Parts: sequence; structure tokens; C-alpha cells
Amino acid sequence: MSRSLIGGLINNGVKTERLLATDPDAQQRQNITQQFGINTLENNEEAVANADVIVLAVKPQVMHQVVSSLASAVKGSSKMLISIAAGVRLHSLAEWLEESAAVIRVMPNTPALIQAGAAALFANEHATETQKNTAEAMMRSVGTAIWLDTEDLMDTVTALSGSGPAYFFYFMEAMEKAATDMGLSNEHARLLTIETALGAAKMALLSASDLAELRKQVTSPGGTTEQALNTFQQGKLEDLVHKAMSAAKERSIELSKILGE
Ligand SMILES: NC(=O)c1ccc[n+]([C@@H]2O[C@H](COP(=O)([O-])OP(=O)(O)OC[C@H]3O[C@@H](n4cnc5c(N)ncnc54)[C@H](OP(=O)(O)O)[C@@H]3O)[C@@H](O)[C@H]2O)c1
Repeated sequence: MSRSLIGGLINNGVKTERLLATDPDAQQRQNITQQFGINTLENNEEAVANADVIVLAVKPQVMHQVVSSLASAVKGSSKMLISIAAGVRLHSLAEWLEESAAVIRVMPNTPALIQAGAAALFANEHATETQKNTAEAMMRSVGTAIWLDTEDLMDTVTALSGSGPAYFFYFMEAMEKAATDMGLSNEHARLLTIETALGAAKMALLSASDLAELRKQVTSPGGTTEQALNTFQQGKLEDLVHKAMSAAKERSIELSKILGE
């Protein structure tokens, strides 16, 4: 995730000398410098000393330890912290920092790796408008970004765009398999499945019509699409998607409780 952000920022004109990354592993640091031409450090506190914006991109499980170690470097400063860790709530970060710092929580997703991410942001009360604009611009460098009205909605976003790429992969896998079962070669089934998904997503993005309307436009009465959609409806696809996303949301809430301890 951090590599995609670094790449996105550089592609969007941020000068390499303004970026600094840390990693405990020497080989990783060397790889980052080679890939992006930016400086790296082993020590987080040293890196944070001169930074205005600190992106916390470690695994949620190590966030408590990493954030606590930054508390003294952040104290009394106007630094902004951006956490991209799934499930780590703002109040946990504030508690670990022992400080009323500006903190922004972001839920990104993996297509950020190819600058096609979809992220949601939520800021605590200490973040200024300028800091919020900076955080939004950073996320826009790797895709689209929206602001949430309440932090609780992060669990819904996690169930939608956070986990969402896997749902689409699964659905595409099923379409690809069905097409090969019906005689297409693996190569053709894969290509047509992926291009169809991409084309449908692009159409939906560019069209003023809502998704139901677009679906109706490609469903002629008595035609082939109608047969397939009737089958999905008989199998209660909508209920199943609702159930699946509710399960993801519940797990996100559960993980937040565990991670906040
Ligand atoms: N991947 C996703 O789809 C996705 C989506 C939404 C949110 N996120 C969030 O993004 C964060 C990063 O996920 P990821 O998939 O990019 O994980 P990752 O590949 O494991 O990246 C974490 C990086 O943090 C480094 N690290 C570990 N301890 C550190 C420390 N004390 N100081 C500085 N760096 C340290 C790791 O270095 P080593 O490899 O050397 O240990 C690794 O390079 C997670 O919190 C995750 O919840 C990810």
C-alpha cells in the first residue's frame, strides 16, 4: 500500500526529496530507494522529526507499538498523521499518541496499486481544512476519494470497497469457469470476462443513468440477458450480497474492538 502511495505521489509531481520512507528491513529500504529514488530511514522517530505528514502504513497488529513510539515526536507539533490501517479507530490512535494530534483515517483498497483505488476518509476534530485537503490529494493520487460523515461508516466502507475487489474477482472467476464449461478456451473466457467487467464499470462511471437503468437497457424482453437475470433473482442474489457484506461489516467491527485493546 505504501509503495502505491509513494508511486502515486511521485506521478502526481511530488518531488522525491519531499518523501521519506521507513522500514525495519535494510533490503526493503534499499529496494524502495532503487524503485522510487527517495531517502529511507530505519528509525521512525527520526523520520517523523522533520515531517509535516506521517502516513502510518504498517499492519494493524503493529500499529499500537509503532504509534506509541511516535508519541513524543508528535507532542505539541502541528503534524498530521494519516492511518491507512484497517480497523484501527481514531480514538485508539489518539489514546496511543497521548496527544490531541490531527489524525485522518483512510480505508484504501488494492486497486490503488494501479492508481485505480477507491478510498474513504474520516478526520478527527483536530485536523485543519488544509490538512484534510492534503490527505484527500494524497489519496486522489492513487484513485478516487470520498469523505465520510461518521467514523462508524468505515465498517460499511470496509465491507464495500475495502473487501470489494475480492467479490468482483470471485464473480469473474465464476463467469470464466461457466464459459469454459460451455466450451470457450481458458484464454478467451478470461479475456472476455475481464474486458466485460471493465467495460461495464467504465459505462457505469461515465453514464448519468443509475445501475438499475443501465441493466434494463441491456435486458431486452424475452432475450438472453433476461433469462440469466431471472436465474440470479430466483437464486436471491441480492439477499446473498446483503448477507455477505453484513458479515464483512460485522467482522470489521469485531476486529476494531480487538485491535483497540
Ligand atoms: N492491502 C490492502 O488491500 C489494504 C487495504 C486497506 C487497508 N490496508 C492497510 O494498509 C496497511 C498496510 O498493508 P499492506 O498490505 O501494505 O501491508 P505490508 O505489505 O505488510 O506493509 C507493511 C509494511 O510495514 C513495514 N513495517 C513493519 N513494521 C514497521 C515499523 N515498525 N516501522 C516501519 N515500517 C514497518 C513492513 O516492513 P517489512 O516487510 O520489512 O516487515 C512492510 O513493508 C495495513 O494496515 C492494512 O490494514 C491494506
